[in-house]
Amino acid sequence: MEPVKPLYYSEYLHLDKILDAQHPKSAVNGKPGAHEEMLFIIVHQAFELWFKQVRHELSSIIDSLHKERIDDNTDEMSVIVQRLYRVIKIINLMNQQFDVLETMKPLNFLDFRNFLYPASGFQSKQFRIVEAMLGLKMEGRHMPEHYKNVHTNKGGFHQQDFDAITAAESDLSLLQGVKNWLARMPFFHKELWQEYQLQFTDQASTNPFISDYYHLYEKTQRELNFAVLKEHRIDQDMKVKEEYGTATANFRKFFIESGSEAFSANELSAALFIQLYGQYPMLHLPFELLNSLIEIDDLLSLWRYRHYSMVKKMIGASPGTGGTAGAGYLLGAVQKNRVFADLLILPTFFLEKQKLPQLPVKLRELLAFSNDYCPSGTSQAR
Ligand code: HEM
Repeated sequence: MEPVKPLYYSEYLHLDKILDAQHPKSAVNGKPGAHEEMLFIIVHQAFELWFKQVRHELSSIIDSLHKERIDDNTDEMSVIVQRLYRVIKIINLMNQQFDVLETMKPLNFLDFRNFLYPASGFQSKQFRIVEAMLGLKMEGRHMPEHYKNVHTNKGGFHQQDFDAITAAESDLSLLQGVKNWLARMPFFHKELWQEYQLQFTDQASTNPFISDYYHLYEKTQRELNFAVLKEHRIDQDMKVKEEYGTATANFRKFFIESGSEAFSANELSAALFIQLYGQYPMLHLPFELLNSLIEIDDLLSLWRYRHYSMVKKMIGASPGTGGTAGAGYLLGAVQKNRVFADLLILPTFFLEKQKLPQLPVKLRELLAFSNDYCPSGTSQAR
């Protein structure tokens, strides 16, 4: 039998390929080229490696979330949350990487920028796939026509990359997985609410929790608005009605009627419930999961903003090498290209803990690890 060749560090990591993958374009005719181009290449490559890792994490998270059933109190749920945390840490790290590239000044960049046309980060297949995996669709992006118009032209994608991005967009996404998961949440099953005493008879919804919560919210809004106006000595009944009327109409829209752009009313109701009762043991992980999504969306926006701000400092108002308006286009993408921003609707409708409806015993038992941990009727948790 052949002796097994001992594993060697650089062979395992294929460092020969990685370290031989920096080829500055400004190094022509035997000249050394622009000093900063090496940094420019390495920073981009580092980003692309991290994008690869993010894809790897997202792919496993999406697989788990799309399963028929995930037990929220098993290892599987904690693995999902742990991997989402990892994605958060990676995006955080990527955001710091801009600091390194910003040590290059605009005139240094000009030394080699003209060699780059018509290539651009716009063509980063992996970045587009990460966006698609999260749930961003072409038509939901800032200036979607740009992708369609340029994809076969200069500055656009090679056909192969364009096809890979389009395929990723029709695959299952994190957004869809989260929507399915929220829709499966059992909190509002009828049998759990059988002994629940509705506080408000005028039912706004078939779901007793949302029905009561809606009325509690309306009452709080009314009192709040009256108090504020009284304090400011504004005696305008109409104004008060208008203010709390808008808040409660929004509540009806999001949690009872149409939902938001990305989530149905049922999915938003489940997300609201998780946010409000997240201190119950069974809801710890769902609570962490929801907050990780908000964090990822926020950090990616920060990524886009940091990139935009760097580009503005680097090239001012010049168009990009990829053919967009440059910084102006990127700022539009900061505002538009978000996936989980709708979850930020929820805090608008939070009520103080002491005002929350007391949950029925059956449901409290379901949400506790065991009766010993959170005995029914004795728990302080609402
Ligand atoms: C000096 C540094 C950089 C400049 C001046 C720059 C400039 C630009 C510009 C102007 C665009 C808009 C498309 C165009 O017309 O070209 C763009 C898009 C993009 N760049 Fe950069 N970039 C820089 C560094 C980076 C780095 C380090 C990355 C990391 C991978 C990156 C990734 C991207 C991505 C993903 C887009 C598409 C953004 C979107 O459409 O939402 N860029 N860049």
